Amino acid sequence: MLSKKAQSISPSPTLAIDAKAKKMKADGVDVIGFGAGEPDFDTPEHIKDAAVSAIHDGFTRYTPVAGMLDLQQAICEKLQADNGLTYQPNEIVVSNGAKHSLTNVFAALLNPGDEVIIPAPYWVSYSEIVKLNDGVPVIVPTQAENNFKITPLELAGAVTSKTKAILINSPNNPTGQVYTAKELQAVADFAVARNLYVVSDEIYEKLIYGEHEHVSIASLNEKIKDLTIVINGVSKSYAMTGWRIGYTACRADIAKTMSSIQSHATSNPNSIAQKATIAALTGSQQCVADMKVAFSQRRDYMVDKISATPGLSCIEPTGAFYVFMDVSSLFERSLNGQAVQTSDNFAALLLEQAKVAVVPGTGFGAPNYVRLSYALGMEQIKTGMTRIENFINQLK
Ligand SMILES: Cc1ncc(COP(=O)(O)O)c(C=O)c1O
Repeated sequence: MLSKKAQSISPSPTLAIDAKAKKMKADGVDVIGFGAGEPDFDTPEHIKDAAVSAIHDGFTRYTPVAGMLDLQQAICEKLQADNGLTYQPNEIVVSNGAKHSLTNVFAALLNPGDEVIIPAPYWVSYSEIVKLNDGVPVIVPTQAENNFKITPLELAGAVTSKTKAILINSPNNPTGQVYTAKELQAVADFAVARNLYVVSDEIYEKLIYGEHEHVSIASLNEKIKDLTIVINGVSKSYAMTGWRIGYTACRADIAKTMSSIQSHATSNPNSIAQKATIAALTGSQQCVADMKVAFSQRRDYMVDKISATPGLSCIEPTGAFYVFMDVSSLFERSLNGQAVQTSDNFAALLLEQAKVAVVPGTGFGAPNYVRLSYALGMEQIKTGMTRIENFINQLK
């Protein structure tokens, strides 16, 4: 018999659809995959070079559990320069990707039955990581009218004596929405008044378009900084998903607890990837700017196309690399006798009939939507969007 806790965990639906599209491609099917959760760009050369040098220099042994001091210092400098946050190296824990950082955070914070407020739509792993650490995810729906951002009123409706933390993800996966300083201030005031932790996942901070800008909730005042665990990493900003480096910034006592947990679970993150991360954080940031230009052009194209297609709509995403598309107006329609009815159905039919992979919103707590990533080339995006349009035109 397997553990009940393990059996209550759902496999990641985003990885599942991506795996299915990749398998179809490997079988020779011409699939356009809008499922990807990672940049399609190669890791920049100077970052790869730093890793190659690390290997040649014999930098191949254990490092301190929470990461090398040089890297912790580089992260402190980044947090100061980009976010106006002052942290010391002993407040930084470097882990095997931001997903691992989140796992450490909830392992450090939660007692059995503690509740974590997760605004929906939400990235699929949050609820499962909370459950894996004996917590209870409290999924709170947000409204499209508020651009899917949680309000104090919604928080007040969800908070109980067991609430331990609020999760904030800005820029958001899957909606692409970015919280303003004012909206974050409202969340911060709510958390401070009730002494709740805020877990602030800022992994998409470098990918923000137009006039919008990233604000870390921890930068609003010292009280909220004390209660916040900032999550960040290099996966999305520097096209380094495979290198597996994420990090947290928070109070030293929480960092120490996470470091103890990590010391038994995985020890230090990969030494070579740590050297590469120093190069990413301290080297030229032109690579980030270049990727952002490409993402921005793709976003504009997709938003225009969706807005011009009857039956589809979306709220313009201002960050990350996803468009969250409302398909609910198609739910009464069908293709060759197969009804659309749900976003799961829509995604399955689209893959089968039009050879286009999108991620249904059900796993994100938003069953009227599907998520389309624009981390793929412009030509593929154009072909994929045309296929979606043709597919919709065929629905009766
Ligand atoms: C919102 C969000 N947080 C964290 C992660 C995990 O990033 P990493 O690859 O660093 O584990 C992802 C990856 O998809 C994400 O979308």
